[in-house]
Parts: sequence; structure tokens; C-alpha cells
Amino acid sequence: MPRLGLGTFKIRGEDATRSTLDALRSGCRHIDTASCYRNEEEVRLGIKIWRSEAAADADGREGNEANDDDVFITSKLAPNEMGETRVHAALDGVYERLGRGIRSSPGEPRVPPLDLALVHWPGMARTPPDSPANRTARAETWRALEDALAARTVRAIGVSNYTRTHLLEMRDYARVIPAVNQVEFHPRCQQRELRRTCEALGVGIVAYSPLGCGELLKDPRVSRAAELLAEASGDTAVTPARALIAWSLRQTGIVASIVKSSNGDRVAHNVGREGYKRAAALAEASGTAVDAAFRELDGMDDGTHFCWDPTVVR
Ligand SMILES: NC(=O)c1ccc[n+]([C@@H]2O[C@H](COP(=O)([O-])OP(=O)(O)OC[C@H]3O[C@@H](n4cnc5c(N)ncnc54)[C@H](OP(=O)(O)O)[C@@H]3O)[C@@H](O)[C@H]2O)c1
Repeated sequence: MPRLGLGTFKIRGEDATRSTLDALRSGCRHIDTASCYRNEEEVRLGIKIWRSEAAADADGREGNEANDDDVFITSKLAPNEMGETRVHAALDGVYERLGRGIRSSPGEPRVPPLDLALVHWPGMARTPPDSPANRTARAETWRALEDALAARTVRAIGVSNYTRTHLLEMRDYARVIPAVNQVEFHPRCQQRELRRTCEALGVGIVAYSPLGCGELLKDPRVSRAAELLAEASGDTAVTPARALIAWSLRQTGIVASIVKSSNGDRVAHNVGREGYKRAAALAEASGTAVDAAFRELDGMDDGTHFCWDPTVVR
């Protein structure tokens, strides 16, 4: 899984196609979508346009070897798609909209699997958070994902917004351990206990909202850390966004970070090939001045969720 991905929550219609294209043109190869984002077809179109651009480039540009497997796509099953009666049709819908995972007939070209399918949320739609029906729905949905993995229509399966309790409960019903748990993760929401549990179980963490939904970009502590990192590294392109992305890549257990932007320049800055190289270099840097800059961010944890808090779901 590429360590930085474009997040597409709240990017709809043509904007989703354009942002996907911006990401791919800038060298990003990881797109995060979900059934409930209602943009899977537009993401697919962005990938298709990029692929035909690359194929048409007769001059040997790097991208012209693009094939169906070049882009890592994650999608998620929504709360209203959970449970035995809905999950199979829901998965087929994801495959159809993304053009992945569809079983091809003999003689037809092979359709690559979906790279990663997640259970989006631990609770089922229109179900009280404390209802035991949520647990049943989680188990049934997971069983369907395990079957998809066995059938090779998906390459990997995981969960999202699962707490420590939801993960430990999986020992009772799961045959396959989730590859990842995609959760809110940034300096104000460091999820220390959950990270320890994930590490013990061998579950990677994918960080979502690493910029705190944009809110952290206004925080003076983040601006200060970015200035310190710029001074320490001599890289004048250390913006608050890059400092936060580098910080997330630096944390133990974080296998990837998903950043949203619908602005082409910011997409390239955040998740493009060059942006990734610079953020990764910062994440791996050491020395007193760099450590002091990252300590500014380490010290911000106050458990704030800018998105939603799943601990209410039983
Ligand atoms: N599994 C889940 O339940 C879940 C929940 C939330 C999010 N996610 C995933 O994670 C992705 C990212 O999370 P997110 O969208 O909540 O928030 P985020 O990536 O933390 O922040 C996005 C915000 O920051 C702004 N921004 C981005 N780059 C910037 C830059 N370089 N300079 C200034 N502003 C910048 C964006 O505005 P512009 O668009 O105007 O640039 C947007 O308002 C989502 O899109 C989604 O794929 C998953």
C-alpha cells in the first residue's frame, strides 16, 4: 500500500474525477473512497482518463506503462450495507462502480481485484448504538469480506473506526485478522491505547484526517513546528500541511496516511511523488532541532475527534 493516499470524502461529481486525475498526474498511486462518498464512478473515470493519457504518450514518459494494477484503491462498506442480507449486493455494487473485483468470464480480459475493502463503521444504520444487533452485523459483514478475500475479488480486507473493544471482539468470529484499521489520527488524536492493541494484533493503522479536517492548519503550534522543521531541514517548502503529514508518517504503527484536497496544487503538494519524497525525508530525519519540532506536535494530544467518535457503538 503506498504510504500516502488521496482522500475523497466530500469530493463529488466532476471534482472527484479531477482530483483523482490531479493525484495520479502528480505521481500519487493511492486513492481512498467509500460507497457512501458517492464518487466511486467518478474516481474510476479519473483513473481511466489518466491511463489513456499515459498510454497515448508515445515518448516514453514514466507513466506510459500504466496498467490496471498501478493504482491502489480502497473502498468501504457503509453502515446501511452491513449484515447478511445486504452486504453481498453492496460488495457487487462497489466492484461494478470501481471496475475492480468483477469475476471475468473465460476468454475475457482479467479484471484486477479491489485492493482493500473496509467495514466503514462498527455500527449498522438505523440501529441504536448500544444495540447487540451491531455486533451481529459486524460479524456477518466481516464473514462476507473474508469470503471475498478467499474468492480473490479483493486483495486485502480491514475495518475502519474500530475501537480496541471492537477489535478484540473479532477474536470470537474472525478467521482473518484485519490488515488495517483506518482511524482518525493527528497530533490532537493520537489513539495511543488503540495503537498498542493494533500492534499486538498485527493490524496496521491507516491515518485519516491527518490535517484534522483542515482545522489543525490554523493552530499556531502547528505553524511553529513547520517553521522549526523548515529551519532544521533547510527545506523552505515545509508548510503546516507537510509538517502534519510527515509527523503522521513518523509514528509507529501508521502504515499509510490519507489526505484530502480538492485543489490541484495542494493535492500535488500533499500526496504527489515529490511531496511524498519530501515528507518522508522529514519523517525519517533526526537530530536535536528536528526532534524539537516534532515534539511540538507530540505534545498536542487531547483526544479531540474532528470527525466522529466510535466509542459510543457497542
Ligand atoms: N474512514 C472514515 O470514517 C473516514 C473519516 C474521515 C475521513 N476519511 C478519509 O480521510 C480523508 C482525509 O480526511 P479529511 O478529508 O477529513 O481531512 P484532512 O485531509 O485532514 O483535511 C482536509 C482539509 O484540509 C484542506 N487542505 C488540504 N491540504 C491543504 C494544504 N496543503 N493547505 C491548506 N489546506 C489544505 C482541505 O481543503 P481543500 O480541499 O480546499 O484543499 C480540506 O479542507 C478523507 O477524504 C477520507 O478519504 C475517512
